[in-house]
Amino acid sequence: MMKSEMEKDILKVLVTEEEIKARTAELGQALYEQFEGRQPLFLSVLKGSFVFLADLVRATQLKSDVEFIAVSSYENATVSSGRVRITHDLQQDITGRDIIIVEDILDSGNTLAFLKNYLLAKNAASITIVTLLDKPSRRTKAVTADYSGFVVPDEFVVGYGLDYCQKYRNIPYIGVLKPEVYAG
Ligand code: IMP
Ligand code: MG
Repeated sequence: MMKSEMEKDILKVLVTEEEIKARTAELGQALYEQFEGRQPLFLSVLKGSFVFLADLVRATQLKSDVEFIAVSSYENATVSSGRVRITHDLQQDITGRDIIIVEDILDSGNTLAFLKNYLLAKNAASITIVTLLDKPSRRTKAVTADYSGFVVPDEFVVGYGLDYCQKYRNIPYIGVLKPEVYAG
C-alpha cells in the first residue's frame, strides 16, 4: 500500500497491524473466559480507545453493552497535566455492573486512578482494566492493568486510536512520531 501523507511523519513502527489483531483476539478470549455467563459493560475512554474498543468487543463474544466516557488531561501536550476532567459523562446508572474499562494507553496512571475511584463511587460491582498499551516507566500513580496488550518504551506513540493534537488516530498500527512533528 502507498504511504499516506500521515505516515511520512512516522519514525518507526512499534506494533504492527497483525500483532494488534493477534493480541486482541487473545484478550477477547481471556475476557470471554472471565465473564462468561455475565453481562459486563465495556466502558471506552474517549477518544483514544475507540478503535481498540471496536475490535475488542468483536473479539469478545459476550452479551455485553458499551458505554463511553471522555476525559481530558493532556490539553494538546505530549505529557499529562495531571488534572483529569470529565468532558463527557456516563449516560446510564452503573450500580451493580461489572465494568471493563477499555483504555488506549496506561501512562502516568492519572486517568485510570481517577476513573477507578469515580466508578466505585458510582457503585460499580467490579472494575477490570484492559489497556492496549502500557508504558510502565512513566507511572506516578499505583495503577495496574488487569489485561494489557503491549508494553511500550517511553516514547510518544500514535495510531490505532492514539493521537497527537487529534491527528494520526486512523493509522492502523502503533508508531513513533518523528520528533520534528511536535518540535515544529
Ligand atoms: P495517563 O493519565 O498519564 O495514564 O495517560 C493516559 C492518557 O494519555 C491515554 O488515555 C492517552 O490518551 C494519553 N497518552 C499517554 N501517552 C500517550 C502517547 O504516547 N501517545 C498518545 N497518547 C498518549
Ligand atoms: Mg486517552
